[in-house]
Amino acid sequence: MAVDVVCVASWNVDLIAHIPQPLERGQTRMAQAFERLPGGKGSNAAIAAARQGAQVGLIARIGGDDFGQMGLDLWAREGIDSQHVVRGEGETNGTALILVYEDGDNSIAVYPGAGAGLTAAHVQAAADMLASVRVVMASCEVPLVATRAAFEIARRHGVLTLLNPAPAMPLPGDLWPLVDVLTPNEGELLMLADAQDVETAAQRLLQRGVGAVVVTLGERGCALFRADAEPLYMPGHPMQVVDTIGAGDTFTGTLAAALARQAPWPEALAWANAAAALSTQASGAVTAMPSRAAVQDWLQGASTPQ
Ligand code: RIB
Repeated sequence: MAVDVVCVASWNVDLIAHIPQPLERGQTRMAQAFERLPGGKGSNAAIAAARQGAQVGLIARIGGDDFGQMGLDLWAREGIDSQHVVRGEGETNGTALILVYEDGDNSIAVYPGAGAGLTAAHVQAAADMLASVRVVMASCEVPLVATRAAFEIARRHGVLTLLNPAPAMPLPGDLWPLVDVLTPNEGELLMLADAQDVETAAQRLLQRGVGAVVVTLGERGCALFRADAEPLYMPGHPMQVVDTIGAGDTFTGTLAAALARQAPWPEALAWANAAAALSTQASGAVTAMPSRAAVQDWLQGASTPQ
């Protein structure tokens, strides 16, 4: 089937230890539980989009080790096209070391491994696929040269570009006009714009050339800012959180799928908000990522997870 959403993707295996509270510098603690689960902001968002019914293709570079093979097996199960995933033979796969605390919050250290070797040439090899889809998405976990190459191809072919600027880092001025939709969380938005409040920050990024800023606000939902329209605030869903790993990726992937099927903004935001809330109901990034039917049921009030 033809791909409609492409993700220039990171793929990590998440090594997750559960401890009550953040460690102090130099401290060692026994963990209460340990899990090895799928992760990586790009792969997470791709799976979220696929579970929403999008036909998803990946551009990625993964390890030649067992963790790399885990990714290929996972994407096959999720129905994701991995023909443009290349393996770095003899290279370590991306790995995330994650501490989850009893309130559901977490700290993450990511080692990108083979993913750091994703280049513009890998993206060029997928140019035909990129030219024919509706949405191309990326995060800041992949090398910027790869994201830029993908967005330039997308721009030439009228394909919508979506950037999740996580983990937040300074970005070059000439990237902003290539971004149609930006999906930061509140902290990332304030950092990127060097501002103290969300509205000022969003306006600054719009002035730099971003088409639309969709800021995620946790339990408060999300807000959409565009140059030519009033801000649109979409309320969130208070949840009894199990963990928040991958909630932002679920939001981004679900939004990409909704925009690919040309849902209007209010519907796309409601859908992304609901999927992100539902994704917090189990441990790990993809475990509780909902299907399209599950989101629809929940939005219609047919089922409530708590
Ligand atoms: O956004 C959550 C993800 O960040 C985790 O899955 C981890 O791999 C890191 O990339």
